[in-house]
Amino acid sequence: MKAWFLDEGPQAHVDPATFEAMDIHYQALPLDPDVYREAIDHLMRTRGYTAQDLVELTPATPDLDALEEKFVGEHTHHDDEVRFVLEGEGIFDIRDDDDRWMRVEVTAGDLLVVPANRHHRFLLTDAKFIRCVRLFQDPAGWIAHYRDAG
Ligand SMILES: [Fe+2]
Repeated sequence: MKAWFLDEGPQAHVDPATFEAMDIHYQALPLDPDVYREAIDHLMRTRGYTAQDLVELTPATPDLDALEEKFVGEHTHHDDEVRFVLEGEGIFDIRDDDDRWMRVEVTAGDLLVVPANRHHRFLLTDAKFIRCVRLFQDPAGWIAHYRDAG
């Protein structure tokens, strides 16, 4: 995982304490299923997630352009956005408390929790490939609320 302030460039690292202060949870996990499943179970128990699924985006995903368009719009959810990356890579841009973008690049082994109601957006890299475990408190409530332009 790499995280930096987008307006300052990749050298402007976001330190873990900054994430913690905003309840953005990050964890590096081994890709051994026996190990990461235990860590995911622990996270589900401690943070109240009740459901999980697998999501995959590849260049062959139908309507990939439309999906990318949807994810790149700045939005929030009433549930945490929890992603454990199994393969591939992606970019989360997350707003800090001063409305600055923090860019977070995730790759295999990265577990990221964007807390409920924190503005963010998601972008694929040029590889256009990511496979993740998602965790939910309430999958039925998984709706994006888009921030008004301007
Ligand atoms: Fe989201």
